[in-house]
Amino acid sequence: MKALILSGGKGTRLRPLTYTGAKQLVPVANKPILWYGIEGIVAAGITDIGIIISPETGEEVKSLTGNGDRFGAKITYILQDTPAGLAHAVKIAQPFLGDSPFIMYLGDNLIQNPLLPFLEQFKQQQLDSLILLRPVENPTAFGVAVVGDRGQVLKLVEKPKDPPSNLALVGVYFFDRTIHEAIANIQPSPRGELEITDAIQQLINTDKKVESCILDGWWLDTGKKDDLLSANQIILDERSTCKIEGNIDGDSKIIGRVKIGSGSQLVNCSVRGPVMIGDNCHLENCFIGPYTSIADRVTLIDAEIEHSVILSEATIENVNHRIVDTLIGRRAKLTTAPQRPKALRFMLGDDSQVELA
Ligand code: DAU
Repeated sequence: MKALILSGGKGTRLRPLTYTGAKQLVPVANKPILWYGIEGIVAAGITDIGIIISPETGEEVKSLTGNGDRFGAKITYILQDTPAGLAHAVKIAQPFLGDSPFIMYLGDNLIQNPLLPFLEQFKQQQLDSLILLRPVENPTAFGVAVVGDRGQVLKLVEKPKDPPSNLALVGVYFFDRTIHEAIANIQPSPRGELEITDAIQQLINTDKKVESCILDGWWLDTGKKDDLLSANQIILDERSTCKIEGNIDGDSKIIGRVKIGSGSQLVNCSVRGPVMIGDNCHLENCFIGPYTSIADRVTLIDAEIEHSVILSEATIENVNHRIVDTLIGRRAKLTTAPQRPKALRFMLGDDSQVELA
């Protein structure tokens, strides 16, 4: 059994953060989203992992993630020249996959459930494909499935205008080698991509065994800001621990599960967990409220922040309002004049969003 993680694509939905970086590397609780997928796959006993990368962000994914040693896995990187679709990614990975069955995992998805029970079902029932589904309120944004009473998949449609059900395809799929032949027999969709949903439909049309499981745990498709903030909240809630490596002065107060990385300094701060603060940060006169993740080398002075994700090397200084539900990109600067500001001055990248609440 092998695994194929898709970490290519354009990442247009998390702009402007992903103009400069891979959306799969955006951290949730200070760990790249992609790494949760790798860890889940290794926990299911699969250590031969291929990762699809794009020319734009591939080097960053490779240099951060490495050869797999840190996960106890062997990682092979596979370059996809253009984001021509999920099934196209499988096609170009064929030399890596050979005839092996495999898990395909979308690198921007996070699921709570362990993969092993699904893998066992896939193997025991000798399926050609097992897909995971979850009821959603906005099925038009996903691949949508129609299933029979035993969970057998009858029909799949990619992002339908008129959804035939509310069951969305979660970005984790199990395939036998028969998927390669199915992909060879499909054509690009109207949006110009080779769709994995069409390939699975091809399996169904040729009487292959395609079953589904309804996911009972949470699932986060982290392509958008609010999804990313909820993923951050859930992971901090479920997995954060108390670990203080940095320096905290006598005027600071730490309450609850708070992690502070090495080389970080807190001066006159109040931190209420769950909170994660990375390495080499400087925080002075700050309140950091629950569900906040602060990456490495961040400077926060006279700031109040909660339920937010701040990426590395950002600076927030002297902001006279509490910052909530916010995502701040790498090296971003947010400051105000020391006196009460009379005007607001911005330099915002394309597609930025500011809400003066
Ligand atoms: O998240 C679940 C949904 O993922 C499913 O419900 C849909 O059926 C499925 O098509 C997919 O839809 P998205 O629009 O969310 O796919 P996205 O373009 O965001 O790509 C998913 C991941 O795959 C992302 O990490 C980028 C990567 N990718 C994407 C394409 C199109 C590649 O590596 N290569 C590609 O060519």
